[in-house]
Amino acid sequence: MSDTERIRIEAEIGEPDVVVVADPEALAAAAAARVADALVAAVAERGRADLATTGGSTPAGLYRRLTSEPLRDRVPWHAVHIWWGDDRYVPRDHPLSNVFGLDEILLDEGHGVPIPIDHVHPWPTGQAIAEERGPAWCAATYAAEALSEVPQGSAGVPAFDLVLLGIGPDGHLLSVFPGSPAIGSAELALAIPAPTHIEPHLPRVTFNPTILGAAPAILVMVSGAAKADVLGRILDGPRLDPATPAGLPAQLARRASATWLVDAPAAGRLRPR
Ligand code: 6PG
Repeated sequence: MSDTERIRIEAEIGEPDVVVVADPEALAAAAAARVADALVAAVAERGRADLATTGGSTPAGLYRRLTSEPLRDRVPWHAVHIWWGDDRYVPRDHPLSNVFGLDEILLDEGHGVPIPIDHVHPWPTGQAIAEERGPAWCAATYAAEALSEVPQGSAGVPAFDLVLLGIGPDGHLLSVFPGSPAIGSAELALAIPAPTHIEPHLPRVTFNPTILGAAPAILVMVSGAAKADVLGRILDGPRLDPATPAGLPAQLARRASATWLVDAPAAGRLRPR
């Protein structure tokens, strides 16, 4: 069986929980409560929590909620490790970096939460750029770091306690675009050339979507009417081969281990549940 076929079949394991809330504020609140629960449970179970977070604009509200009571005091932040499922190939302090929003809100010096600095694991884009090592080095270095720090699930893939995701209007997740070379690749992390069909037109580094199969829980956040069409196709349409340009990689998170939190404008084309 080819890797592509295997990933496709893995993705067919069950259907996710789909939770529709009124608006972006409710989405942020519901996401923050779930993230806090997952972090508390992982720390209780094994003494630390590894969260793979996402980029884009959607997590900002979630981060704000986590820095506010009651969640701020409920989570044992000293035992939380933060990773990123993907990033843009820019330094961490670049506004288009997926780390930037977390640095600005969750780790803000005045209002942020007390996550130890060495528990924050950004992709080494800054070092790769400064030392001209390139995105492939950046990806391989990050894969090695994750493998040495995060317990491995089946097939030697790091099993993050929770993987947070957003989706793109083209049906991408992580930096895995329709027809992506990441699908079916044996590499845990990959350099992806700058997409031309979607902004920002920057090279990316991304985990292989096999991390979704290893994670016990996945939380996908989707907000806004602009995502309604693609969301309908992802959750209620036929499953398409994500390795083809017509495929929808976000269907790889259409699985029983995932919760999809969707606001009403984004849910406009979903069948009633
Ligand atoms: C990226 C992201 C990507 C993102 C979605 C949603 O680097 O572009 O990781 O997968 O989550 O594109 O982005 P929005 O939250 O801005 O809609």
